Amino acid sequence: MSAPAARWEFDAIGQRLLAMADELRVFSEERDAYTRTYLSSAHRQASARLRIWMSEAGMSVREDAVGNVIGRLECNKPGAKTLVTGSHFDTVRNGGRYDGVLGVILPVEVARHLRAGGRELPFSLEVVGFADEEGVRFATSFLGSSAYIGQFDSGLLARNDDSGVSLADALIAAGFDPARAGHDTRTFHDLLGFVEVHIEQGPVLLNEGLPLGVVTAIAGASRYRVIVTGEAGHAGTVPMPLRRDALNAAAEMALAVEACAAAQPDRLVATVGKFQLDHAAANVIPGQVEFSIDIRSGDDDCRRQAEQALAAQLHAIATRRNVTIDMTRYHETRATPCAPALQQKWAAAIAAMGLPVRHLPSGAGHDAMMMAGVTEVAMLFVRCGAGGISHNPKETLSAEDAGLAAEAFERFLLAMA
Ligand code: GLV
Ligand code: MN
Ligand code: MN
Repeated sequence: MSAPAARWEFDAIGQRLLAMADELRVFSEERDAYTRTYLSSAHRQASARLRIWMSEAGMSVREDAVGNVIGRLECNKPGAKTLVTGSHFDTVRNGGRYDGVLGVILPVEVARHLRAGGRELPFSLEVVGFADEEGVRFATSFLGSSAYIGQFDSGLLARNDDSGVSLADALIAAGFDPARAGHDTRTFHDLLGFVEVHIEQGPVLLNEGLPLGVVTAIAGASRYRVIVTGEAGHAGTVPMPLRRDALNAAAEMALAVEACAAAQPDRLVATVGKFQLDHAAANVIPGQVEFSIDIRSGDDDCRRQAEQALAAQLHAIATRRNVTIDMTRYHETRATPCAPALQQKWAAAIAAMGLPVRHLPSGAGHDAMMMAGVTEVAMLFVRCGAGGISHNPKETLSAEDAGLAAEAFERFLLAMA
C-alpha cells in the first residue's frame, strides 16, 4: 500500500466535506431550524442524497429494513474481512450541521479519494449512515445501530410520535416493512472493528489548540420520562395551601436533578431537556407536567447510585407537595471503552501527521456504543469551534480540521491494511 497523499489534497477534501454538510442542511423539517427526525420526508431526502454520494464514490449501496444507508467498497480477495465505519444522519431539533453527518460523509470522501488514486484496501470498507441515533421522534436512541447489529426491539413499533403516528406506520409510509425491522441477516464474525469519526461536541480540543483527539471511552447514560400529576384549578379561587400545582413540583424536581449532578461535578452530568405543560393558561393552576431526565457518567455504578438517590428525592418532593409522580426509565446504555489496539492506530496516524496525540473521553453518546456489542470500537474526535458548542445551530467545524480528520482516517485505513 502506497504512502498517504499530500496535505493539499486533504485540504480540498475538507472544503468538500463542508460543502456536503451544507447541502444536507437543506433537508430539514423546519424552515428556520435544522431538524431532521427519523423517517420524516427531510430524512428520506437526506438518505437519497447520501446514497448518491456513496455510489458516486464507487460503493455498492443499499438501505436496510429500518433505513440505515449502507455503502460498501468491496475487497474481492478471498477471506477479506470488513471494517465498518459511520455515524448518524438524523439530527436533534434545531441542531448543528456536523453532529453525526461528518462521520458518514468523511469516509465516503476518503473511499472516493483512495479509489481515484487507484489504491485498493485489502479489506472491505462498509460505511453506514445510521438512520436514527438521536431518537428525537420516537424516543428511540440508537435505533439505527441497534437494528444494524440485529438487536432491534420490536416493542418499539407500537410507540407513537407527538402527533400519534406509530413507528410501524411511519416505516410503512416510508416504504419499509415493519415486520422486517431488525431482521437483516448479517453475521459479524468477519469484522475488523467499527470506527466512528465525530466532532468532539465539547471544548477540550479547542482549548488546547488541537485539531484531533483519540477517544478512550464513551460515557453511559439513562433517560427517564417523568409525569407529575396534581390538580388543575382556578388561579383566582384556590387558596395557596390547598393547591396541588404540578408545575411548581416539577420545577423543584428539576432543580433536584441539577443539584444531584452538581454534587459530583467530575463524575456525573444530568439534564432536564424537555419540559411540557399541557392545557396551559395564565389563569389555570397547572395540573400535569411531563419532563425528561438524561443522566450520564463514565462510571456505571456512580450513575446507577445517583439514579436511585434521585428517584427517592423526587418521590419525597411529590409526597410533600401532594402530587403523584410516574417515573419511567426508557433508555440505558452502559459506558463503553474503546479498544486499545484501535486507539493506538488512531494515535499513530495523528502522530505521523506531526500533530500531538491527545486522548479524551466522550460525554456524548455515539453509535459506537451499540457497535461495541458485536465488535471492537474506536473513535476519532475532531475539534469544533464556537467554544465547542453542539446540539445548537452555532456548531462549527473548519475545512482545515475536516481535511486533517480525512487524512487521519486515510492513514488509519492504510495502517489497518
Ligand atoms: C447524542 O447526541 C447524545 O445524546 O449523546
Ligand atoms: Mn447528537
Ligand atoms: Mn452525534
